[in-house]
Amino acid sequence: MIKIKGLKKKLGGKQVLDGIDLEIMDGEIFTLLGGSGEGKSVFLKNLLGLMRPDEGSIKIDGQEITVLSGEDLLKVQVKVGMMFQGGALFDSLTVAENVGFGMKRLTDRSPDEIKTLVKKYLKMVRLEDVENLLPEKLSIGMKRRVALARAIATQPEYILYDEPTTGLDPITTSAVCNIFLELRDKLKLTSIIVTHELETAFKVSDRIGLLHNGKICFTAPTNEFKESKDRYVKNFIEGNTGGDHAEKEKDPIRGDRDEIKQ
Ligand SMILES: Nc1ncnc2c1ncn2[C@@H]1O[C@H](COP(=O)(O)OP(=O)(O)OP(=O)(O)O)[C@@H](O)[C@H]1O
Ligand SMILES: [Mg+2]
Repeated sequence: MIKIKGLKKKLGGKQVLDGIDLEIMDGEIFTLLGGSGEGKSVFLKNLLGLMRPDEGSIKIDGQEITVLSGEDLLKVQVKVGMMFQGGALFDSLTVAENVGFGMKRLTDRSPDEIKTLVKKYLKMVRLEDVENLLPEKLSIGMKRRVALARAIATQPEYILYDEPTTGLDPITTSAVCNIFLELRDKLKLTSIIVTHELETAFKVSDRIGLLHNGKICFTAPTNEFKESKDRYVKNFIEGNTGGDHAEKEKDPIRGDRDEIKQ
């Protein structure tokens, strides 16, 4: 279980996180919605110990991580997989090397074992025969799934996703969402997704929260969230579906097809 209390972080003179309180239950998919620049990525970086909060507490399985560093922090980080915004694959490594990276670094598995597991995890995200390709040869949707395979390859208990479906076409989005559900149901993974995409949030989440002005201003099970009369929730939902979708216009990679680039 992850317990966050009074989490605060100021960056560049701005109070980005201003007292976040949140509990994530084991086995659930929790989505944190929020507009661009609201602090979603900063929130995840704090959870992963990549950024230290100014104030507050983050307990993962009862262990306070805000005070850990070095080996002790690494031990907790092993429990938490992360799929970074945009995938963040290593460009000079092949798909197989990318997916096997964490296993090589964090476990004592043999190269043969790693090879077999890489294949298994790629298959789980519905990718085959791409092991030897460099990321530049892949479409955005494929890169996203390689990043997902890399995140699950170290068999974490928790997995954090930063905008996992932004810029994907509806079919690939749906495929990625199904993978999230499968990971919850088959591997009992606990997931935290941050996104501004309602469609993804509504499709996969057990609960949804809304980040606004540095606080989680509303949290509810998905159906209740959808129907909520809360002013901020209504604004966010109506703004997202109100036709002029600025985020999507900004995004140059819509219409991505799941193909290997020639
Ligand atoms: N390292 C940093 N130094 C200074 N300011 C930062 C840093 N990282 C983030 N910020 C600022 O913190 C705020 C929140 O950024 P963050 O990246 O968390 O937003 P976000 O909700 O993830 O947005 P998006 O949906 O566009 O990804 C922004 O104003 C950003 O400029
Ligand atoms: Mg972000």
